[in-house]
Amino acid sequence: MSPTLASRTVLLGLLIRAAAALNCSIPPIYVDVHTRAVHGSDFFQYGAFFGFGSPSQNQSLLPSFRHDETSVASTDFCAESTLQNCDHSTRGDFDFNQSLTWRDLPAKSANVNPISQDIIRGQDTIHIYTHFFETDPATDKPLSDMPITVATNGSTIPGVLGLGPASTLLEVLVSAGFIASKSFGFYVGTGFPRALGNGPGHVNGSLTLGGHDTGRWTGDMHTYDIAPDAANAMTVEVADIILDDPTGLVRSTSLFDSSRFPGTKKDAFEARISGDTFPFSFPRQLTANFMQALAAKRSNSSDGSLALEKPFNGTMTVVLGDGFSVSIPADLMSIGAEQLSAVAAPPADDEEEDFILGLAYLTQTYIAASYSSTPPKFHLAQAVQTAPFIQPAPLCANEVPEQLKEEKASEFQKTGMIGAVIGGVLGGLAMLALGLWAGLWWMRRKAIMKMEMRQMEREMEKRKLGEFEFGVDRV
Ligand SMILES: *[C@@H]1O[C@H](CO)[C@@H](O)[C@H](O)[C@H]1NC(C)=O
Ligand SMILES: *[C@@H]1O[C@H](CO)[C@@H](O)[C@H](O)[C@H]1NC(C)=O
Ligand SMILES: *[C@@H]1O[C@H](CO)[C@@H](O)[C@H](O)[C@H]1NC(C)=O
Ligand SMILES: *[C@@H]1O[C@H](CO)[C@@H](O)[C@H](O)[C@H]1NC(C)=O
Ligand SMILES: *[C@@H]1O[C@H](CO)[C@@H](O)[C@H](O)[C@H]1NC(C)=O
Ligand SMILES: *[C@@H]1O[C@H](CO)[C@@H](O)[C@H](O)[C@H]1NC(C)=O
Ligand SMILES: *[C@@H]1O[C@H](CO)[C@@H](O)[C@H](O)[C@H]1NC(C)=O
Repeated sequence: MSPTLASRTVLLGLLIRAAAALNCSIPPIYVDVHTRAVHGSDFFQYGAFFGFGSPSQNQSLLPSFRHDETSVASTDFCAESTLQNCDHSTRGDFDFNQSLTWRDLPAKSANVNPISQDIIRGQDTIHIYTHFFETDPATDKPLSDMPITVATNGSTIPGVLGLGPASTLLEVLVSAGFIASKSFGFYVGTGFPRALGNGPGHVNGSLTLGGHDTGRWTGDMHTYDIAPDAANAMTVEVADIILDDPTGLVRSTSLFDSSRFPGTKKDAFEARISGDTFPFSFPRQLTANFMQALAAKRSNSSDGSLALEKPFNGTMTVVLGDGFSVSIPADLMSIGAEQLSAVAAPPADDEEEDFILGLAYLTQTYIAASYSSTPPKFHLAQAVQTAPFIQPAPLCANEVPEQLKEEKASEFQKTGMIGAVIGGVLGGLAMLALGLWAGLWWMRRKAIMKMEMRQMEREMEKRKLGEFEFGVDRV
């Protein structure tokens, strides 16, 4: 390969990429996920930072993948609700009488917040807050006429960001030109009370609307079809569950193992991924095996988690049908003096089973969805607990989330230069390769710096510019 051909290929590669990026050049919106003050509550609450109404009443919402509409608690929700620990759990409340921009909407029956028996529906301004630097004020992206459900009574947490397959939020954001596609990427972190709270080792989460946060996931991105049944849209096959405590008695024990647990059938089962509840819910037999292996008993936990009677300092690895496997670390398998586990007690005999990979699963798993793809898809990857940079990238229709760094490497590979260097072609050609590599790195570095500048300008103007990737210090 001649050097001229090589450099031309590199340039061509860059041009093609620029064209592809043009198609989907709107940068995603990054929303940080942590604990903060919310409207109408004395307690700091964990979630993604949104506000509703004019002036804004701030909320801390977590996504639900089976609800399409975003919902909040009314100011009198806790007076009526049977939700346990209600004052600490609403994620904020909302008084539409205090908003100058609220307008009533007719109650709609389709997938409007089924978590509540009693709702009021309307539309109002939604404020999407991005808070990159702890010391800076948050930037506000307001968008008017966003449909909102206000829950006045109910038994489950009312503050929910509706990110289901027909998400009204994503729809409104795309039609306003705020994001490139109906997509999101989410890592919940562990800063919420049921996980590690604000205790040692907790990490905050990351929500990206119209894209994904490349810094918060690693390894292969695994892709799955969105199921047509909206209530179970994100369903995966669970092929194995392995408990392992290298320092204890339970070593590499599969809950599917019929020699260890007589009568167990080795059938994989379908489970839905849920942001609405914490623990895993497994088929009865597997739950019974878990209880037997770890001496687990029912607890008083409101989410139905089992409590361990003996210390367990091990992990639980969940293996999906396609081989994607994620381990729940020991500190989430046995929490607090009660030794709460991450697995729910089985339902009563007459109750229907519902197999769930809940927030416990999402403390270790990055989830992304691209509802604009045909057919719509969702994606899972190993989450990165602590990432030094926020690196949101857009997720275009029919694309699988990609790492920015890997992109860089493949650019390099496409030119054949890696082969040349590895093949021992030293001297001029290798130097040229290095030069190109450094050049590419420098160009990207410049783009990133430019992006940071733009980001600052944008914060001042509250307007978007046509760039598509950037890195900023994470708070
Ligand atoms: C841009 O999008 C259109 C429609 O989705 C598609 O046909 C076209 O191939 C895309 N162009 C690039 C460069 O990806
Ligand atoms: C998480 O966010 C909170 C702000 O609510 C901050 O005080 C805390 O230090 C953050 N934790 C980590 C590990 O960054
Ligand atoms: C609120 O819901 C609970 C059940 O969740 C019910 O017992 C109660 O009567 C309801 N309150 C009102 C005012 O409807
Ligand atoms: C809002 O105002 C109406 C009438 O002005 C009143 O009936 C209603 O209770 C108020 N709602 C709240 C949540 O305060
Ligand atoms: C809501 O949050 C924004 C952004 O941090 C802040 O400017 C505003 O004062 C907050 N509203 C209230 C009522 O605290
Ligand atoms: C559950 O609560 C009841 C009554 O508050 C108490 O007697 C019981 O010991 C608790 N069980 C556990 C496992 O904590
Ligand atoms: C738990 O296991 C880890 C590693 O497997 C070990 O470093 C730690 O000392 C153990 N803790 C206890 C309390 O046994």
